Amino acid sequence: MESLLQQIKEHKAAIAAFDANNADEVEQFRIKWLGTKGLVKAIMGEMRNVPNEQKKEFGQILNEFKLFAEARFQELQDQFAGAATAAVSHSQDFSLPGDPVAVGSRHPLTLVRNEMVSIFKRLGFSVAEGPEIEDDWHNFGAMNLPEDHPARDMQDTFYIKKPEDGNGPTWLLRTHTSSVQARVMENQKPPIRVICPGRVYRNETVSARAHCFFHQVEGLYIDENVSFADLKQTLYFFVQEMFGKDVKVRFRPSYFPFTEPSAEMDISCLICEGKGCNICKHTGWVEILGSGMVHPKVLENFGIDSNKYTGFAFGMGVERITQLKYQVNDLRLYSQNDVRFLKQFTGVV
Ligand code: PHE
Repeated sequence: MESLLQQIKEHKAAIAAFDANNADEVEQFRIKWLGTKGLVKAIMGEMRNVPNEQKKEFGQILNEFKLFAEARFQELQDQFAGAATAAVSHSQDFSLPGDPVAVGSRHPLTLVRNEMVSIFKRLGFSVAEGPEIEDDWHNFGAMNLPEDHPARDMQDTFYIKKPEDGNGPTWLLRTHTSSVQARVMENQKPPIRVICPGRVYRNETVSARAHCFFHQVEGLYIDENVSFADLKQTLYFFVQEMFGKDVKVRFRPSYFPFTEPSAEMDISCLICEGKGCNICKHTGWVEILGSGMVHPKVLENFGIDSNKYTGFAFGMGVERITQLKYQVNDLRLYSQNDVRFLKQFTGVV
């Protein structure tokens, strides 16, 4: 046991005499003395060989030795703690380029809607907005849709539950932004020149080609002597601005209760340039909008003299225009919030 006491004495002297010049040397001290294979552990292991009657006495000596080594280590560490921090802060290089911050992008439908709005603004149209929850009159009645019109069917329109007493108007989610045109005619006197961008709802099963909500830009122009030629030229200007000078257009006779005469407008397919593809169903043409001269009955519904004033109206889907512009072939992509889809529009203003 004498040799063990002697050993401890020598160790203590060595520990007390140890001086470190830097944090690395402090670490070496830790490994040598306090590490898992260090000398303190080795000495503690000697307890095994101490006879039982001396265990209590030696236990105290060994413990005291261990505390002594730990205290010295703490001292050395404190000595270099400030220096270590200083070294770290010194290693910051402020001239390095920063980490890039991920920037979001506008939704493709927003981009296209903004572009559409800006084209019509250049022609003198202003923007009108209205509620998405609409009453039966502004969405249907005022627009000359009779009570038994199929669009009024529960199958096609989302109705909102009537109050218990059954009083008041029937409420629904607007099926087109023509309801905003109705509100404009209600509140303004001609000349009227507005476009109505907004979200609309229809009771459709969601698929690649149909959705229960989508977006429209509708337009209305009422003044004296507004003719079908004005309608054609306005829409022709729009298409050329949106898709370029080479795009061709054609009008087909159609039917809408709120316009007479009515026409749908097709443009030459931009995807296959008229050769025939899935988008144009191999016809070379895609339908992009409905239009027509405002029905006299609609004007009269708002007290506008249909002998003095005429007007044209049109309506188109923002999704369709976006599909043609960016070749998006599944309507569901617009509302799934998949960043891989959305980030493709980063940098497009
Ligand atoms: N409101 C029609 C629709 O939603 C579009 C349209 C507007 C057609 C104006 C003609 C005139 O389908």
